[in-house]
Amino acid sequence: MALQEDDFKKVISHAKEYGFVFQSSEIYDGLSAVYDYAQQGVALKNNIKDYWWRAMVQMHDNIVGIDSAIFMHPTVWKASGHVDAFNDPLIDNKDSKKRYRADVLIEDHVAKIEAKIEKELAKAAKRFGDSFDKEQYMATNERVAGYIATSKSILARMGDALTKEDLAAVKELIEELKIVCPISGSANWTDVKQFNLMFGTKIGASADSAMDLFLRPETAQGIFVNFLNVQKTGRMKIPFGIAQIGKAFRNEIVARQFIFRQREFEQMEMQFFVRPGTQKEWYDKWKETRIKWHYSLGFSEDNYRFHDHDKLAHYADAAADIEFKFPFGFKELEGIHSRTDFDLSSHEKYSGKKLQFFDPELNESYVPYVVETSIGVDRMFLAIFSKSLEEETLENGSTRTVLKLPAVLAPTKAAILPLVKKDGLSELAHEIFQELQWDFAVSYDEKDAVGRRYRRQDALGTPFCITVDHQTKVDQTVTIRHRDSMEQERVAIADLSGIIDRAVSTKHWLKKMA
Ligand code: GAP
Repeated sequence: MALQEDDFKKVISHAKEYGFVFQSSEIYDGLSAVYDYAQQGVALKNNIKDYWWRAMVQMHDNIVGIDSAIFMHPTVWKASGHVDAFNDPLIDNKDSKKRYRADVLIEDHVAKIEAKIEKELAKAAKRFGDSFDKEQYMATNERVAGYIATSKSILARMGDALTKEDLAAVKELIEELKIVCPISGSANWTDVKQFNLMFGTKIGASADSAMDLFLRPETAQGIFVNFLNVQKTGRMKIPFGIAQIGKAFRNEIVARQFIFRQREFEQMEMQFFVRPGTQKEWYDKWKETRIKWHYSLGFSEDNYRFHDHDKLAHYADAAADIEFKFPFGFKELEGIHSRTDFDLSSHEKYSGKKLQFFDPELNESYVPYVVETSIGVDRMFLAIFSKSLEEETLENGSTRTVLKLPAVLAPTKAAILPLVKKDGLSELAHEIFQELQWDFAVSYDEKDAVGRRYRRQDALGTPFCITVDHQTKVDQTVTIRHRDSMEQERVAIADLSGIIDRAVSTKHWLKKMA
């Protein structure tokens, strides 16, 4: 059975116990919202990145990849709007001295009202049984309808105040709702202030000549400033895309939920440059393509949903999130944004360089429009990892913890296990291991009883265990055990490579997108 919401702690401890994710600088008590990927984690993360890269770059002849520097000229961030507008509204509680995101305090308040709605609905469903009509009940039951109207009105007021940058109105709302600090229990709040999320640093040795820089808060700008270089040197014709995977940094204030929201994280972004006027068509196409990529990994489709943005960023004419059912609820996993010509036009203005494409079909030059797909590697990791972790009760009453990772992403594809160390079985198992190593990430283990070794590989998400026993010496066959079904079959050593390849090859998985 998949783990329940309150089992999120199990996800975090499993990630640590089996060498996937560690708290950064743990021996110094850690650094908040910063994590290290360990021996298993880095392999899973690399496989996620590879799966994305192949789907986006290798399988599209009009998309190319780049790897731009993290440091960029400071004017980039002026042009992109990040210096002036990449802010979170913050509020401090004067008694506890704790700092909060004002919008998150309000959203948490609304979440409590929504929890009451869910409770009422669950009660009513029980009372009315099969005849229960949820929609009708929500519209007609006075108490539930009241809760719904209240949450909507709070969110609308907050959205309005934030759009107008009316921070006094945000504070008024917090006071009116009587929201208190979870630590001090008091409503003794400071005014709401905007806080820029970019990390600043300096380049250069001497204090006089040092230049103020920012660590990039998104990888996208490295693509925009290279638009013309790539278009010219790659002889690209519109429509075409530029993809990139790389680190991004944000000084997040509300840093919780493990690797979901970090201060240093990785993004996989693709900017697709299109003819003005065709952006809606491409936006719809990319929404469809990206959701298919997620579905191809085999988790049930009800784990995903689209959330269309009502309030658009200043640069966008349409935007949607792909939300995933994390153990703590549906949350943003990926964003698809129709960014108009905002970024390129703004870089033209600030740099004084033309960033245009000459369209031979139209016989005119224009600043292309851009549709962006942007997904966090770490969020994807958390989505896959948490959904794959299961605790099963077996027929004999014992339990097993198994990480049912999609085989294409599993850190290790097969573990080679000699039944015992003696009688030449270790040597034989080593030979098989060394042969498979050419094509697959495989491991070798001869410690402990074979049952315990199976359990360990289940917990690591290894799709196959290959056991070498005395019969192997006689007829060159081994048993292959399947992680999810625990079924075992006897196969020839010569067939192993083909069996593993069919299960783990990217081609096999990505073909499901067709
Ligand atoms: N270039 C567009 C952009 O950066 P975004 O919605 O701010 O858009 C895109 O970020 C994706 O990056 C998100 O959907 C999420 O997966 C990931 N992401 C953003 N902030 C993050 C953080 N603090 N920690 C981990 N992942 C984050």
